[in-house]
Amino acid sequence: MKIKLSLIALSILAVACSHKEYPNETIGIIPQPQVVNYIGEGRFNVAEAAVSYDTRFDDLSVHHFADFACRLTSIFKRDVIAEEGLKSTGIRFVLDKKYQPEQYTIEVKKDRLTVTASTPNGVLYAIASLSQLLPDAFYGVEEENPDWTIPEVFINDWPRFAYRGLHLDVSRHFFDVDVIKRYLDVMAYHKINRFHWHLTDDQGWRIEIKKYPKLTEIGSKRDETVVLKRFNPLVCDGIPHEGFYTQEQIREVVDYAEYLGITVIPEIDLPGHMIAALAAYPELGCTGGPYKVWTRWGVANDVLCPGKEKTFEFIEDVLDEVMQLFPSEYIHIGGDECPKVEWEKCPDCQKRIAELGLKTDEEHTAEQYLQNYVTERVQKYLNDHGRKIIGWDEILEGKLAEGATVMSWRGAKGGIEAAKQGYDAIMTPGGYVYFDYYQSDSISREPFAICCPCPIEKTYSFEAYDGIPEESQKHILGVQGNLWTEYVATPEHLFYMVLPRIDALCELQWCAPERKDFERFKKDVARMLRIYDALGYTYSRNIYGEPGLPGYTGPLGGDR
Ligand code: ACM
Ligand code: ZN
Repeated sequence: MKIKLSLIALSILAVACSHKEYPNETIGIIPQPQVVNYIGEGRFNVAEAAVSYDTRFDDLSVHHFADFACRLTSIFKRDVIAEEGLKSTGIRFVLDKKYQPEQYTIEVKKDRLTVTASTPNGVLYAIASLSQLLPDAFYGVEEENPDWTIPEVFINDWPRFAYRGLHLDVSRHFFDVDVIKRYLDVMAYHKINRFHWHLTDDQGWRIEIKKYPKLTEIGSKRDETVVLKRFNPLVCDGIPHEGFYTQEQIREVVDYAEYLGITVIPEIDLPGHMIAALAAYPELGCTGGPYKVWTRWGVANDVLCPGKEKTFEFIEDVLDEVMQLFPSEYIHIGGDECPKVEWEKCPDCQKRIAELGLKTDEEHTAEQYLQNYVTERVQKYLNDHGRKIIGWDEILEGKLAEGATVMSWRGAKGGIEAAKQGYDAIMTPGGYVYFDYYQSDSISREPFAICCPCPIEKTYSFEAYDGIPEESQKHILGVQGNLWTEYVATPEHLFYMVLPRIDALCELQWCAPERKDFERFKKDVARMLRIYDALGYTYSRNIYGEPGLPGYTGPLGGDR
């Protein structure tokens, strides 16, 4: 793994906060820590402190606090790292193997600030929290008399959910590696540890597969893009769009994410959402084509043909390369929005249905059971290679093999049903954590977006266990936010859609429900917005009643 020094300390945590006092009710950290106890009247002065650490820590943890120390060194113009060995005063990083994997504590006393953790993620998250206790000057913002003191406090913190995800669709619009890294930076700062990378769809195939070069030669390019969806006419830009990640770039992203404690979960969406692949290899479709990389949004009828054995060869070959690139235990195989109209007409599909003895019943059609067959076969292939599948909640329709994880997107009902049936589930309900929805109710002032308003209050109001019987709650692995990019073409627009809803998301993922409080959260978000300013991230100011993305010149919600 390549180690990148100073990423967290120098670029992510550039907090522009200038609080001098801690309000009684909040310490001003997002996500709100589980336990915050004020333990004295004294204050610890970071400006005078040296950093020391337990030499038993692993290399990655050492890199994290070295980053932090480097930052202090450059601010205070003195070497803040103490001679080797843990000291009894100053800023101290202590290893305690009894801590949960992502847990950390920060104990602040007048003469020492002790961070304790057992893993690199614990250390990273402690630093993310600690940085939010420091003044703007920590991040290079000019500030008169910055207050480098921290009150005596004890913070004990750990995540509610092990799976804390954020998704990005790079098919509808391609974003280069630098943008992906900035996305990962902002995720890590919010203690988000899973990046769901939606790499393939009808509108563009974005991952190099060496055995199938046409996937990127042909499948990564489309003629134009819909910029405004009216029933009639569609408004398109007439500008070709293309892009893909080489395998080397994918490895670079996976390494970068690993440094930030983030597992990258690739999605190869199948058997639907496959026109870009069909454009490259038409023999994998029911009709044999020709097909064209889609320039429209919505659900395409042309999908992979599961009647043909070469379709499975293709899927397995692609997954072989995907598994080489991504160490993730989970591979997302999509499964959403797969129309069956071509399968109904296709002799190969009908032959397969007959051979398998699939029959339409009161609940499902034979073709729906054919999709189960695809899911199960791909699941078995991945299981045989030591991996597990995640699929969108459509995979629950019909029958689903044991060990699959369901991603609930059509509301929470798929997740509720999955958990009741004993499958693991990840909650990512549209309406709450779909960041392609409008940032505010004033859609006429917002960049044109899919569907409906989803202001931050709405995101914040989601509770993952609602509707889940207590005995099934153990199956809820966590919560994820999704950003589909049909109408999101630039990095500025991308970050605008995510920030600050990511702050609400991370509290759903991290905090015990009783730690959530929208009024407290709103104050803390105000400070986060200053951080985003300092770091050059775009974000929505709707929380101040100011909808809209400054500088954006594309269609607005009101242009529908
Ligand atoms: C989805 O939003 N189509 C999973
Ligand atoms: Zn077919």
